[in-house]
Amino acid sequence: MIRYEKLDGPFGRSVYGLDLAAGVSDETFRSLTKVLYNHRLLVLKSQACNVDEYLQFGRLWGTPIQHVVDTSRMPDYPDLLAVGNLPDKDDLSRNSAAFWHTDQSYEADVATATMLYARKMPDVGGETRLVDTKAAYDDLDISIKENIAGLTAIHFYGATSGRDGERRTRQLTGTQAARVPPVPHPLVRPHTVTGEHALYAVAGTAFTIDGMEEGKASGLIAQLKEHCLQDKYLYAHKYAVGDIAIWDTQMTLHCATPIGAPTTPESERLLWRISVRGKPSIYQ
Ligand SMILES: [Fe+2]
Repeated sequence: MIRYEKLDGPFGRSVYGLDLAAGVSDETFRSLTKVLYNHRLLVLKSQACNVDEYLQFGRLWGTPIQHVVDTSRMPDYPDLLAVGNLPDKDDLSRNSAAFWHTDQSYEADVATATMLYARKMPDVGGETRLVDTKAAYDDLDISIKENIAGLTAIHFYGATSGRDGERRTRQLTGTQAARVPPVPHPLVRPHTVTGEHALYAVAGTAFTIDGMEEGKASGLIAQLKEHCLQDKYLYAHKYAVGDIAIWDTQMTLHCATPIGAPTTPESERLLWRISVRGKPSIYQ
């Protein structure tokens, strides 16, 4: 029997009593999806599965995305990324997610869920911070909701690097950039399963708004981002080894805590990441 418990923040649920290595029934999976769509984040506790079992679980949520930064993919597993600070990574790779964003918002077919499986976790640091952009949208004044209804933001990987005091992030090579040209997404985007509305990707890749003067567009995006990043919408997850965090990328922004190179085994961080697009198979 699985059990859900509130996380220590404004949203999210931890999940106990689930063993992915033993498989997940349709009934259990349906329950997980419903709780995710209601609470934005699940943390499956004490998991012990191998890459193939993890990937099998990931595929229940949608189609795994092979990241445009092909050098970050896991050897023999192009659907997975090894995220962290192990010695093979330089500063840009260690901190490639240390800015507010949602995954694959720079592609036409965006990510719908991302999961990180904690394999090594430092004693200090290594958290993922997330904000609930549906709660942030719900709380907007009606006049702002009316002003932004129907607006379309334009997104590009790396376009907002260094903006609003964020860290400078990786720039794509010419070949990589050609694979992901600028794309439009509604600023207020309905969830593909529930139809509920949230502010979508107002940080990370949105660099302008279609048909709006440049300064006004970047000012509006910055204002909405600042609104989302308030403490009342924010949760920072400190992983235990064995945690699998899954979040709804359509209704959240996230940001990795910046991390340095490890100096001891206790300061190493390694997570396996799967991002998927499309709907879970049970909603097809
Ligand atoms: Fe990310």
